[in-house]
Amino acid sequence: MKIKSAEFVISNQDVAKCPNNNIPEYAFIGRSNVGKSSLINMLTDRKSLAKTSGRPGKTQLINHFIINKNWYLVDLPGYGYARVSKSSKKTFQKFITAYFNKRKQLVSAFVLVDIRHEPQPIDLNFMSWLGEHMIPFSIVFTKADKLKPKAIENHIEDYKNTLLETWEEMPNYFITSASKSIGKDELLNYIGSINAELKE
Ligand code: GTP
Ligand code: MG
Repeated sequence: MKIKSAEFVISNQDVAKCPNNNIPEYAFIGRSNVGKSSLINMLTDRKSLAKTSGRPGKTQLINHFIINKNWYLVDLPGYGYARVSKSSKKTFQKFITAYFNKRKQLVSAFVLVDIRHEPQPIDLNFMSWLGEHMIPFSIVFTKADKLKPKAIENHIEDYKNTLLETWEEMPNYFITSASKSIGKDELLNYIGSINAELKE
């Protein structure tokens, strides 16, 4: 799929105030600093469509971007960021949970995990939660530029083994790098094929 246009639409904390139409959307979620906002910029070929930062906790709202005027990419705050106060952590959790529970337009989530890290309970628990709520998702391994191909292969194998302890099958997954544009076509074509199916 080619990206012809990508525009910011709205930011908010309240799922009820998200765009009220039937445009399909895809949400990026994962730990703070994993590269959600960077991946959105890479996919859309826009340097600063979504705000990024070296410091975790940059994205604090639900951000809608409209792509090719017919689907949304949604940038969400990260979970598991230790340095925000307990009360704002609760607020985050509340509206992220509300977003996933209530947003009917959500077609699929992408759970981002840093390819360098061992499987983390917080990510595995979040994937289980999505599964229990029957919310479709794919895993997106980020920062693949940081590892050599052999290490990537080994890491994916380890991750698969861990997931297969609780899942019957390995969820759909992508290997990406925002800085090297790895995985761009695979991800965009995947979204494009779902959008095409939805139109049938
Ligand atoms: P929050 O909004 O805080 O939840 O973070 P985020 O998940 O949106 O992460 P963000 O895109 O802001 O990126 C965090 C840091 O990781 C930034 O310093 C990015 O430059 C860096 N980063 C993101 N993607 C990649 C990548 O593919 N490769 C490398 N090497 N660095 C990356
Ligand atoms: Mg962000």
